[in-house]
This record gives sequence, C-alpha cells and structure tokens, in this order.
Amino acid sequence: MASVTLIFLISITVLVVVFLLFWALDLLKSKLAERSQEKVRSQSLADNTQHLDKKPLIVPIRNDLELLRREPFASNIQECLVIVLSNESKTAGVCAYLNDLEVDYFVEDFPPCCQRYPNEHALRSFLGAMNTFSDKWVYAEAVTYLHNDFDLIKSVNTQGTRHARLVGKYEAKYYYRVIPQWTENFVCDNIELEEYWENMVEFTKRLLKASEFSSPKLWKRFPLNHWKRKQIFFKADDFHQVPHPGAMDNIRRQTPNLLPQVQEETTAVLVPID
Ligand SMILES: *[C@@H]1O[C@H](CO)[C@@H](O)[C@H](O)[C@H]1NC(C)=O
Repeated sequence: MASVTLIFLISITVLVVVFLLFWALDLLKSKLAERSQEKVRSQSLADNTQHLDKKPLIVPIRNDLELLRREPFASNIQECLVIVLSNESKTAGVCAYLNDLEVDYFVEDFPPCCQRYPNEHALRSFLGAMNTFSDKWVYAEAVTYLHNDFDLIKSVNTQGTRHARLVGKYEAKYYYRVIPQWTENFVCDNIELEEYWENMVEFTKRLLKASEFSSPKLWKRFPLNHWKRKQIFFKADDFHQVPHPGAMDNIRRQTPNLLPQVQEETTAVLVPID
C-alpha cells in the first residue's frame, strides 16, 4: 500500500515539475519576443526623429511600422491636415490627405468683386476651401483645419455663433469633423509631429507670398514634397460661399502651366440709364 502511495506522490511531483518547466519556457519565449519587438520599434522611431529636437516621444501604436518609419506623417485612419491663410487680396492653402499620402493645394487672388468686401476675407477663404474640398473629406474622422485668422477660429470654436453654424452645416452634409485651430498656436496630440506641422505652416506662408508658386525651389522646402500633389482651383461658387452685394466678377488668374496666362475678365459695369 505504501509503495502505491509513493508512486502516486512521485508521479504527481513529476507532473508538477514538467508543468512548471513548460510554463517557465513559455514565459521566457514571450519575454524575448517582446524585447525584440521593442528593439524594432525604438530603432524605427530613432530613424524617424533623428532630425528632430530631443523632445519626449509619444509612441504611436501601429501595425504598419515600416510605413510609419518612412512616412511619419501618414495615418491609418481617414484624416486630413489643412492649412489655409488669407489676407485682403489673396488666399493660399494646403490640404494633406494623411491616409492616401496625397496633397492638394491652392493659391488664389480673390476676384475683384470680393476684394471690394475685404472684411470677410478670412471667412471667405475658410468656407471657400471647405466648399472646394468637402467632396474629398466625406467621412473623414478628423480634419484638422489651421487658419491664420485668430478671431475667426475663436468664433468657429464657440457654440452658437454664425461661424460655428456655417461650419456645422458642411460637417453635417459631408459627415466629417473639423478641428479648427489657429496657425500661430495649435495643439498637436502627437508631439513627434508638431515640428512637421510647424514646417507645413511655414511653407504655406511662403506659398501665399511667392510670386512663382510652382517653382521647384519653393517646393523643395515642402515637408511632403515627395507625396503626390495637385493644384486645385477655386470656382466662383467657392469664393461666394460668403455672399456679397453687387455682381460677381469672372475669375482671373495667372497659372503659368495649366491655363492661359490671363483669362478674360468681364466686370459688371454700371451704366447710368437716363
Ligand atoms: C497679401 O499678400 C500678398 C503676398 O504677400 C501681397 O502681395 C499682397 O499685397 C497682400 N495683400 C494685402 C491687401 O495686404
């Protein structure tokens, strides 16, 4: 009887030992896997950020590490970064589709009729770009929209204002969400990308000022110069999302490569009738 008990005890002990051994092996294996993954991640991040200042890093969790290494700007959700600037006579903007790795941009003089109502140039450029791009923003999870007019951004961000309602209409119609921010003081969730955003803003300022906005020299400074890029043209309808009194002038633009140098301009002339 005693030997049966002994055998029973021994076999239990053996089972427990074997179990513990397997468990320890498993643990070791997963620890090793974790460490090698960490190595890959920190390596790719180091590559990414060599040229950035030594800021604390937020590690984005993604599957496509390789893509992220090559394209820190890329996103795996439908997401856009838009920067629009304007003054009384001119507007320029850049829209980066972070999921498709594509860029649209525009540089436009306001038509003479709109320049006669310069007070609303900021809203005119803001809504003009929204009207132009909305078709492509459908279902975008986040459209981060930077504009240089502080008062406009403040108003768009305040519930119940006319500006907030206007922007809300586009959001509801095209199912996207705009995050309006000021170009001079924006919040970027991803600290790693903050400097890229700043460079994008700097570039858009150059674009607004440039006389030769298609020159390769200018675009060399564009952080996403290697992405597919397309110039977009405002239509009369885009400029007039903010209506003004009086007739609408035809749009006149200088586009060195794509259109004839100067398009016909027909200005409504008031002829006194007697
Ligand atoms: C708007 O900016 C452009 C480019 O810097 C400049 O040429 C133009 O004079 C500005 N317009 C006004 C009204 O300040």
